[in-house]
Amino acid sequence: MPREVIGALDIGTSTTRCVLAEVASRGELRVVGMCQRSSQGMRKGQVVDVDACARIVREVFTSAVRMAGVRVVDVHVALSPLHASLQATRGVVTVQSDKYEVSDDDVLKVIQAAKMPALPPNREIIDIIPRQYILDGYGGLKDPSRMVGMTLELDASVVVGSLTALSTLRRTVEQAGYSVASFVLKPLALGALVLTPDERELGVQLVDIGAGVTEVSYFEGGTLKAICVVPIGGRNISNDLAVGLKISLSTAEKIKTEVDWFSMPDDKIFDLQTFGHVESRQLQAQGVLDVLEPRLEELLQLIRQQGASMSGRDHPLAGTVLTGGALRTKALAHLAELYLGGGARMKVAAVGAVDDPSLNTAFAVAAYAVSRLWPAQPMHSGKMLSGVWSKAKGIWQNLWE
Ligand SMILES: Nc1ncnc2c1ncn2[C@@H]1O[C@H](COP(=O)(O)OP(=O)(O)OP(=O)(O)O)[C@@H](O)[C@H]1O
Ligand SMILES: [Mg+2]
Repeated sequence: MPREVIGALDIGTSTTRCVLAEVASRGELRVVGMCQRSSQGMRKGQVVDVDACARIVREVFTSAVRMAGVRVVDVHVALSPLHASLQATRGVVTVQSDKYEVSDDDVLKVIQAAKMPALPPNREIIDIIPRQYILDGYGGLKDPSRMVGMTLELDASVVVGSLTALSTLRRTVEQAGYSVASFVLKPLALGALVLTPDERELGVQLVDIGAGVTEVSYFEGGTLKAICVVPIGGRNISNDLAVGLKISLSTAEKIKTEVDWFSMPDDKIFDLQTFGHVESRQLQAQGVLDVLEPRLEELLQLIRQQGASMSGRDHPLAGTVLTGGALRTKALAHLAELYLGGGARMKVAAVGAVDDPSLNTAFAVAAYAVSRLWPAQPMHSGKMLSGVWSKAKGIWQNLWE
């Protein structure tokens, strides 16, 4: 019997990653291949050169397919909040069965009905987030199946993508030799994977700090409520270091990972090759921190402001969960606790056996795609995704050992 394999793709500003996952019986996910390469043709979270970007996409899939020994045609593609928005919507249908018992078909129909809001011509619906089902005025239902009533309503948000961004991504994937099975809004997939049901219920901010942009989202009442993007990422921090210390970007990237207030000895000295000097120059760690600190603070202040405006409180009740490659900058991870802690719990999410938070998105998209192919869930269930992930974890570990 042919194996059903899903491809997930995350084209980041700095790195392009793909994950191949096999769907076993009962919707379990098994990671069978993956690959990551430095991105090309990307700028601040968006494709600016389709040819260059498509070349890298083809490379990552060719390598992952070789590793997995399976073919993949359709790919689920991560979509940044940069190119998407949430729009409230409502669907209403009459329950069809004789005894007015809500069937799976009625649920699908009300979801379809809610997917019909008026949209500007340059927008496309890529997903729907159910908030509550209402049956003859009886609201707050997570799953109306088998309940009895005459009118079924769905209160939801649709995820609306920019047509230009979607068609550019589609062209990129097609030029690489694959086709787009679906677009997956990154925070939706990540939230299902790295947040606990309690956090999503109480109110939690999820922050993905990448190379080009920082994507901020807010969950409350069990679902994704708001998304936004702060146009600063790890690369801006490296840029500031490079300019401030007159060093190359690659040197800046390197020392960025080493600088840390909390674990670094006070007298730590960096040997830096500065522009205009043949000899390397010695610089005390404090000099590096003086350049780094204001930029990190600025980024964290912006994240904090977003969290406050999305949650309507100083800090979201269940705190902030951080992910993304820039967390590997130790100083950032430590400062984040000071700026975003606010008495609420804060944690750094790193999924799986590989402790690399920048890989979370590709995994999350694979898990989310599997959960969509397994349609037993009327609401997207984080619990299910966690189950999917725990099954995948062991296999993932093997791929890296
Ligand atoms: N080992 C590491 N130590 C320190 N920083 C790291 C490390 N690995 C990655 N980074 C930083 O993480 C950032 C890249 O993060 P990530 O891979 O999540 O971004 P991306 O997904 O390519 O970009 P974006 O999401 O913004 O489009 C870079 O700025 C890089 O400096
Ligand atoms: Mg990213």
